[in-house]
Amino acid sequence: MKWYNGNETGQIPGAFPEKWWEGAALFLAVLNYWHFTGDDTYNDQLSVGLEFQGGPNGDYWTSNYSRFLGNDDQMFWGLAAIQAAELKLPDVPDGNSWLSLAQGVFNDQKDRWDTTACGGGLRWQVYVYQSGYVMKNSVSNGGFFQLAARLYRYTGNSEYKDWAEKVWDWSASSPLLNNKTWNVADSTNMDDNCATAGNIQWTYNYGVYLGGAAYMYNKKWLDAVNGLLKRSFQNFFLAEHGFVMEDITCEPREICNNNEILFKGLFSSWLAYTALLVPSTYDTIMPKLESSIQAAAKSCTGNNNNTCGVRWYQSKWDGWTGMEEQISASNIFSCYLIKYEKDGKGPVTSTTGGNSESDPNAGEESGSSSEDKLKPITTGDRAGAGILTFVFVAGWAGLMSFMFLGG
Ligand SMILES: *[C@@H]1O[C@H](CO)[C@@H](O)[C@H](O)[C@H]1NC(C)=O
Ligand SMILES: *[C@@H]1O[C@H](CO)[C@@H](O)[C@H](O)[C@H]1NC(C)=O
Ligand SMILES: *[C@@H]1O[C@H](CO)[C@@H](O)[C@H](O)[C@H]1NC(C)=O
Repeated sequence: MKWYNGNETGQIPGAFPEKWWEGAALFLAVLNYWHFTGDDTYNDQLSVGLEFQGGPNGDYWTSNYSRFLGNDDQMFWGLAAIQAAELKLPDVPDGNSWLSLAQGVFNDQKDRWDTTACGGGLRWQVYVYQSGYVMKNSVSNGGFFQLAARLYRYTGNSEYKDWAEKVWDWSASSPLLNNKTWNVADSTNMDDNCATAGNIQWTYNYGVYLGGAAYMYNKKWLDAVNGLLKRSFQNFFLAEHGFVMEDITCEPREICNNNEILFKGLFSSWLAYTALLVPSTYDTIMPKLESSIQAAAKSCTGNNNNTCGVRWYQSKWDGWTGMEEQISASNIFSCYLIKYEKDGKGPVTSTTGGNSESDPNAGEESGSSSEDKLKPITTGDRAGAGILTFVFVAGWAGLMSFMFLGG
């Protein structure tokens, strides 16, 4: 939280203008921290920032940033909102409820379901001038699946279940999600009708689908949970690195960007919630988390101020410094405390103590996104272009992998 200035005079609550989605990553970590430790020091800042960025339409799609946002950026804020509801952060009086903010994101994304190519799916980006507009990717679709699954679990409303199944089935029919090998690819291109995929491997792509399947959990979903778990353990916990969690695409060559540094933390908490929601997985997940937690802790020994590194498997600080490193380590430390929640605490629903107010039509009242499209693009908007960096660097990482591995 020392990296967060949103509560200071003249600053905008919850805003990281250069990297807007990272506010959601920060607040997800703060929610976990509060829930598992009981320390509510940061809850005021958390509530104010999470509420404020929801914007007047209550859907995390405000004109300050939206011009350069993708479905994935908005989705992460939706997940933070539903998590606030599930962990019983009190709704802000006279504000948008946490549940309605998550519903607002769901409603926007449902309306963007695209059938012009590939038989369905969400595009990565929302506007035609963005380079990811012609791509469909795992984190956007898997994230929308997870959001729908969590809304279904929280509210019991079958519309969310239908959408979760639809997004899952479409993903499995595309090269993004292979429900036999449980490979999760990164993205696929509409130009060839999603015939091929960019198969760069990232923890969070596995995590969004895994987490969603865990929130859907009943016997029908157990194969998916187990399959994704097994494959992600094989991919991201390597024997030569002591089975410590690792984003294999960027860490060995020290090319992780700020987005990518956050992935392990997100993945850690989806593993932790999976262990709580699907009790049969607890004994396989916990040992994997424990060895990674210990290694991560040893990486947090930098700069004489507990600065954490990127490569946890080195079990020492690797020289990196940043908010993203602190968020990821904080997330995995919270995971240790699921030990004390095994017996049915975890995320609540509207029938087990959750009372965040529902608004099934949230985000739709003013037809927000079409109005948005017509406004001219300003320099201020361009400053909010976190996702462009992501596209470039993802492409660059892909090129590097090609050169080093394939070429
Ligand atoms: C912002 O929050 C921090 C606690 O993290 C607090 O120390 C500080 O006084 C707050 N600043 C303002 C302007 O409220
Ligand atoms: C949008 O930008 C304006 C001008 O800087 C600011 O006053 C407002 O709080 C911002 N809104 C959000 C949601 O960040
Ligand atoms: C820790 O120290 C480093 C190096 O002086 C500095 O860049 C970083 O901002 C510090 N971290 C915090 C949270 O103050």
